[in-house]
Order: sequence, then structure tokens, then C-alpha cells
Amino acid sequence: MNLVGGGRDVRNRVRAAQSAAFRAAEAQIEDWGLEQNEQGWRAEAFLYCVEVKPPDCDYYIPLAPSWLVDEYLRTVVIWRHDEGIDRLRPDVVEISAAELREFKNTKGATLVDGRVIDPFDPNRSWSVESLRGPDGLRLWETDEVVPRKDDLFQERLYCIRWMDTEGNRLYRSPNSCDFEREAKALRLLNERIANWRMKGFIPSAPIPLDGDKTSEPVRTRGWTCWSHLFNPRQLLTHGLVASQSLSNLHQDRVLAAAAMLNLGRLADWNSRLSCWLSSPTQIAGGKNTFLNQALNPLYNYSARPLSMMASAQIDFDSERPIRAASAVEIGDARDVNRECDLWITDPPYADAVQYHELGDFFLAWYGKHIRGAFSDWLPDARGQLAVRGEGEDFKKSMVEIYSNLARHMPDDGMQLVMFTHQNPAVWADLGMILWAAGLRVTAAWTVATETPVGGIKKGNYVQGTVLLVMRKRVEEKHGFLDEVYPEVEDEVKRQIDSMRALDDGAEPNFGDTDYQLAAYAAALRVLTGYQTLDGQDVSHELFRAKPTGRGAVAEKSRFERVIDRGIQIACDYLIPRGLEAAWPSLSADERLYLRALDVESRGERRQGVFQELARGFGVRELMPLLQGGRANQSRVRTPSEFGRRDLGGGGAFASTPLRHLLFAVHATVADEGKPEVGRNYLKELLPDYWGDRTRLTAILDWLASLAHGDDDRWTADAEGARLLAGRLRTDHG
Ligand SMILES: C[S@@+](CC[C@H](N)C(=O)[O-])C[C@H]1O[C@@H](n2cnc3c(N)ncnc32)[C@H](O)[C@@H]1O
Repeated sequence: MNLVGGGRDVRNRVRAAQSAAFRAAEAQIEDWGLEQNEQGWRAEAFLYCVEVKPPDCDYYIPLAPSWLVDEYLRTVVIWRHDEGIDRLRPDVVEISAAELREFKNTKGATLVDGRVIDPFDPNRSWSVESLRGPDGLRLWETDEVVPRKDDLFQERLYCIRWMDTEGNRLYRSPNSCDFEREAKALRLLNERIANWRMKGFIPSAPIPLDGDKTSEPVRTRGWTCWSHLFNPRQLLTHGLVASQSLSNLHQDRVLAAAAMLNLGRLADWNSRLSCWLSSPTQIAGGKNTFLNQALNPLYNYSARPLSMMASAQIDFDSERPIRAASAVEIGDARDVNRECDLWITDPPYADAVQYHELGDFFLAWYGKHIRGAFSDWLPDARGQLAVRGEGEDFKKSMVEIYSNLARHMPDDGMQLVMFTHQNPAVWADLGMILWAAGLRVTAAWTVATETPVGGIKKGNYVQGTVLLVMRKRVEEKHGFLDEVYPEVEDEVKRQIDSMRALDDGAEPNFGDTDYQLAAYAAALRVLTGYQTLDGQDVSHELFRAKPTGRGAVAEKSRFERVIDRGIQIACDYLIPRGLEAAWPSLSADERLYLRALDVESRGERRQGVFQELARGFGVRELMPLLQGGRANQSRVRTPSEFGRRDLGGGGAFASTPLRHLLFAVHATVADEGKPEVGRNYLKELLPDYWGDRTRLTAILDWLASLAHGDDDRWTADAEGARLLAGRLRTDHG
């Protein structure tokens, strides 16, 4: 059975069944009048929030990290207190651009850094943790769908987006008719819930208490069943679609599978974990539960009416039907026992995502229907089989998996391993694992797959996935490390040359991490061709006993050092454009500063990337070069930010000619653009001023030309560099 690749017939059948189920559910909702108001306006989104009444407060405080509803339409919620009433009243209003800025700066926020803030007295606040109390929250009973009256956290509807009969979008606070519709949805759900649970149309499975991610909803909300992640309106809508799409299937496995997948889609896009995201350039909208790969309950969230979910249905591709014999099986990759010419795998990595825990969210919706469609499948994520951790166990299971797959392919077979890169050090481990499994890397491709959430401020950078292409290592090749080094060097250079040839100077396609990973891959291409190096095989190195105990630092294995060398070569070889002539005479610290600047000018702000660069250049002291400590907000110090700091002092960078040059730029800026002081300073300080002059001028030109986009911290310094370069160029003594 194929859904993707099933061809036209499958696609049409699935489409017809799905739209019939959707239409029937829509007709029912329409009949109940749950998504339309008295004026005939259609709801587009319902916004809910948690509210809490601290012990010494007279009213419930609605919680949200921001009450900005829609930046594009400049709409916010302002809470009002009516005397004697313990529920606040939301006022949904349009505001001016100036006020909008304040709201973006969390004006009015009632939840900041884990504290509840009184909206009428920002000096009054309570920590959420202390409100939860030492014993934590009451755990919900399976059948509960809303909080009990005496629960700490209550929930309320605070805003609805409507489309009026003329097609205008309007945000409104809910009125009494809206609350009646909410009550009706709850009543309708309660009438059906027992039956629907029995038939498996809504989840009954408990949330595992011991998971890394799954313990979060239990601890922070008291939710114990997967159905608790959905509010009454959401459960009613999904239950209705489920009852329509999963009944009367007459054992049609294709339709059952498609219906389950669609329900998973609805669950993802419409839960109490669906956040509401506002943007300056387009109308706000609800997002999916797994916008991040976690299960973080939200204080305010959005729910979709059914009419806004038609587009969430999966349209299976019919253009590329699978014609070959195919089999879909689930199982532990260590137990695979069929032969394949090509194995394509996408392994989990170093606990980056807890798939087996997050998978339960979907399995809870598939429930018993899985057994109906696939008799030997279980609605169980089989957590105990999942490859986990990042230490010995992880490596061991990975080597077992890849050795098994290598055993089940012919000598001319191939493997393709996908790996979304995060930490290049982890990448080195993957290389060694595959190597130990008897595979040889023959090629590596970086494919742009993921854009970081929210996008990076400058430049258009994407997150890459590396595809490693591998063959079986059939040849018995034994080598010696000192012979391998030059081979690695050539391979890394070849790799970088080929990427640079593709890179367009104005708008580079490859980011720095891409180059580094390509360098790793190139090193691996050489290394994995050998069965042993200096008489030792890689398993020995991979599972080498690491020192234990406090403060013990694992010494790098010799193989790791070869891989690191690959990175170093890449670092040395990747010279920023325009600095080619000056480069050979620069020290490692100077090169690091300039390369970091080069990378930063293309929008990079991740400290990890700068750290990798420092590692590549073999420089220990990175932090003095950086400004801003936060992991994703790092940038390189400008000449003016350096000022006199550490000038000529103890650090390796502090006494380099480049550091003095930066000071001279700063002096030029400080002297209102007059380069004389800077030039005299250099002349006095540098023993070989005349010899250094040409390369210093080249560096100044490069600094002046660096595109720093909207970063005005550089504007004056770049101009200073330009003026000083002019002075140095015309210096005749
Ligand atoms: C990176 S994800 C794959 C994502 C998938 N390619 C996709 O696009 O949705 C890694 C997967 O490996 C699975 N996995 C973990 N341990 C496994 C094992 N021992 N055998 C087979 N699969 C395993 C995880 O459950 C997870 O679904």
C-alpha cells in the first residue's frame, strides 16, 4: 500500500473520502451554529488564555507573555476591571504605531520570566512555581476536558477573529452569545465523549509520566491524558471529523491510513499547544503544536474553526507513482533482514528530539484504528527500542544498526545517511560510527532544508542537511596517519574549491557551517577508505575507555585529530575575499578576528559558529574578540568597542599588528575623521611600518568595504578605516 506514490487512483479515492467526511462534519457544525455569529460573520480563530487568581488578589489574572493580538492590524487586548467582578474584561482595540512599539516591548504582559504580573500594578507579581505550590497541581481525571472551578489554572476565551459578510477581518472580544456557543460546544462534547472514546475517535491514552518532554504537560498543567491537550471545541471538531472519516471504511486500509494521518494533521494544527503568532507583514495566525519539537503548554493559544482546517488535509502526491515492488514495515533497524541495494536512513541524533515521546501525541489519535488497518502494528512508540543518549550506548546501537544494514546490501550497494547538522563535534562521532560499521564515505551533499524559526535577521541563511553517500568498504587498505594527513589536506582543498566555484560572490549560497561540514566530510572520505590506521581499527578508537571522575577531560583520539585537522585546513584555506595578499603573514588570532567578522557580516550571530572557527584556527581566546554574551546574539567587537581595551596587553590578540590597526581606526574616528593620530600611532609602534603598510592598507580597505547592512555600529568605524587607508596609501614619510 502506498499513499505517497500511490498514483492517481489512490489520490482520488482519498480525496473523495476526505472531502465527504469534511463536508459532513462542516454541515453538522453549521447546523449547531458553532462557528458563526448572529450577524452571519464566520469565525477564523478563537484565542484562549489561562487565568489565575493569586491568594491575595481580588481578581483572576489572564496570562500571556504579550497581549499583542495582531501586529499587522495593530490590535491588542487591554484588560479592564469592573468593580466587584473577579473576572477581567478584555477590550480588543486598535492602537497607534507608537503604542504598538510599547506592546512589542511586552507592555501589559502578565507573564514575564515565569512570574505572573498584575496588569494594574506591575510591581505586584507572583512566581508561577510558588503558585503551583510544593505539591504541584491536581492531576486531571481522564474524562475531564476543562479545569475544575477550584483548580489553580482556569481557561477563558478572550478574543475571536471574524470574517464579516463583506470579507473584512475583525477582532472582537467575546460577547454573551459567543460564551453561549462555547458552553454549547462543551455540552455537545460531553454528550458524545464516552461513545467517542469507546470508538477511538478521541484519545484515551495516558501521557507517560516519566518522559523528558511528556512530563512537562503533567507537571505544569496537571494534564494526564492526551485528550487534555485539546479544548472542548477542538475535541468536538476533531471527534466529528474522526467519526465521519473512520466509520464505515469496510476495512479499506488506504482510507483508514489516510484518515489517521489527516487526524494527526488536525491534532498538530489545532491543540492547546498551538500558539498564536503575530507578524508585522501579514495577518496573525495560529501555528502548529510541533512548531518546536517539544510539548510546551502555553498560557495563551489559538483554536481553529473547522472551516479553517480544510487546507490542513494532506493531498498525497500522485505524480510520481511507485511502480516497483514495495513493502512498508516497522521495526528496529537492528532487526532488518531483507537485502536492499540502497538504504536511505535518517537517524535520530544525540537526543536532539525525543521522537518516541512526541510520537505518542499522534498515536493517541490513531489509537485502535491502527490495528484495524495494520494487524501487526501497535499504537505504541516502542520507546525502549529507540536509539537514545549520546554516549557509549548511542554509539553502540548506531554501529549495530549500520553494520546490520551494510550486511544486508550487495558489495556494490549504497547507503545514504541524512544528518541535519548542529554540532560539528557530534558529526565527527557519526563519521566514526559509520566507519566502524564497515562503510566508506564517497560523497557528501549539503541540502538546504530548514529555515530557522523566525528567520535570521540578516542574510538568507538556511539550515543544511548533510547527505552522506556511502559504499561498503570491501578493500582491505591499511595506512599510516602521517601519510593520511597530506591526503586529507588535498581532499579538503578540493572540496572547498568545488563549493567556492558554485558560490556567487555577491550572495553566497554556502554558510560557514556548510564549509566546515564539507571539510569534515572530505576528511572522512579519506579516512574511511582505510580499514586500519597505524595498525588500529576505528572501533577501538570509538569505544576507547574515556577517563572518568571529576575534571577528567577525554583526550581526543588520533582519528578525531585527523578530522579536526580537516577543519583547520578548511579554516586556513577559506580566505575572505579581498584579503588574499595579506593573509599569509597574519597570525592565527588575526585570521580568526577577520574571518569571524567576515562570517558575521553575512548575518551569523551564533556563538557556536564562532567557537568552531576558533577551534579551527587553534585559538583558545575567543571571548575577548566578541561583544554580547548570549548564545545567538554574539558579534565581533568593532574597533571603537575595543577602544584601548587590553591594547598591547597579555592576550595573544592584544599585541598583534591588526589589534594596533584597529586602535588606529578608533583613533581616527575619535579625532573626527582625521587619520593623523592613527597613522602616527602605527608608525611609532610597528617596527616595520613601511614593510607592513601595503597589507595594512589592504586590511583597512576590506574593513571599509564590509557590508554591515543595517548595523550602524560599524558605519563610523568603516568610514574611519577608509580615511586611514587613504592616509597610509599616500604616506611618503
Ligand atoms: C530523524 S527521525 C526521522 C524523520 C523522518 N525521516 C521524517 O522525515 O519524518 C529519526 C527516526 O528514527 C527512529 N528510530 C529510533 N530508534 C530506532 C531504531 N532502533 N530503529 C528504527 N528506527 C529508530 C525514531 O523513532 C525517529 O522516527
